[in-house]
Amino acid sequence: MKLSVQLVFAAVLYTSVRSRPLSARDASDEDIARLAPDLGFAAGVNPTGTGDCDGAVNGPDGRPIKVPCSCPPSRDVFLQHLQGDVHAGHAVNHPDIPVNFPTDDSRDAQLARIDAAKISLQNLFGSGVGCPVAATTLLAQEAAVRSGNAPPPPPVAAPPPPPPEANTAPPPPADNGGDDIARLAPPLGHAAGINPTGTGDCDGAVLRDDGTAVKVPCNCPPSQDVYINALRANVQAGHAVNQPSVPVSFPTDDSINSQITRIQAALISLQNLNGSGVGCPAASTTLLAQQKALQQQQ
Ligand SMILES: *[C@@H]1O[C@H](CO)[C@@H](O)[C@H](O)[C@H]1NC(C)=O
Repeated sequence: MKLSVQLVFAAVLYTSVRSRPLSARDASDEDIARLAPDLGFAAGVNPTGTGDCDGAVNGPDGRPIKVPCSCPPSRDVFLQHLQGDVHAGHAVNHPDIPVNFPTDDSRDAQLARIDAAKISLQNLFGSGVGCPVAATTLLAQEAAVRSGNAPPPPPVAAPPPPPPEANTAPPPPADNGGDDIARLAPPLGHAAGINPTGTGDCDGAVLRDDGTAVKVPCNCPPSQDVYINALRANVQAGHAVNQPSVPVSFPTDDSINSQITRIQAALISLQNLNGSGVGCPAASTTLLAQQKALQQQQ
C-alpha cells in the first residue's frame, strides 16, 4: 500500500515535469552556465558597518540603493540555484513561480532568461529570501534588451561641440519676406482650449470687468503655424485673401507705428482665417492689449 502511494506520487511528479515547456527541459547545466545573465556587480561595495552595502542601481536621490553586503551571490552560487530552478521548472524555494530558460537568441528568450535569473536571486535561500534585484544590473540589462540597445554603448569621452551662435549662422534663404513675417509676427499670447464649457466655448485671453474670461471658440487662437501661414499669404497679397477689400501691410522696422501696423495685420489675418469674417476673435489673443500698450507710448 505504501509502495503504491509512492508510485502514484512519482507518476504525478513525472507528468508535471514532462508537461513543462520543451525549452526549459532542454537547457543543460552547460547551457545555463553559458547563457545565464551576468549579475554585473560585486558584493561588499562601500559597507556601512550595519550589513548594508551599495547596490548596482541608483535611487531617486542619485545614490546607490543599499543592499545586503552578501548580495549579489558569487557566480557559482547563483548558477547552482538557477540550474536547480530551471531543471525543476519552478523556483525550488517558491514552487508556484514557474522558471523558463529558453536557449535561443531571440529577444523573448533573452528576457525570459533575465526573468529566470531574477526569480532565482530573489528566492535564493527561501521563499522570498534572497538578494534584491538592485544588487545586480539585471533591470538595466532588461531595459537594454527591450529597447533593442543591448549592450549599452560606452560613454562618450568628450562633450559635443556647442552649436554655432545664432548670429554667426548663414542667413536664411530669401522668400519674399516670409522670414521677416515669422520673425516679426506679434505673438498671439494665449492658447486654445482652456476651460471648455462643453458647448464649444473656452476662455479667451481677455477678462471682463467681473474678472471672468471672455468666452471664445475652443479652436481659437489657431496654432502658430496656421497663424503665420495666413499672415504670410495676406501680406504677400497686400490684402486679406479672404476679404480683398481690407488692405494688409507689414512694415519691418522697429518704430511704434510699424509695430501697431503689424498687430493690425495679425488681427485681420485672424479674423478672416477661414473666410470673410470667419476666423478667431481678437479676444482669443492678447493682441489688443499689446496694441494698447504701444499706443500709450506714442
Ligand atoms: C478653420 O478651418 C480649419 C480647417 O477646416 C479648422 O480646423 C479650424 O478649426 C477653423 N478655424 C476657425 C477659427 O474657424
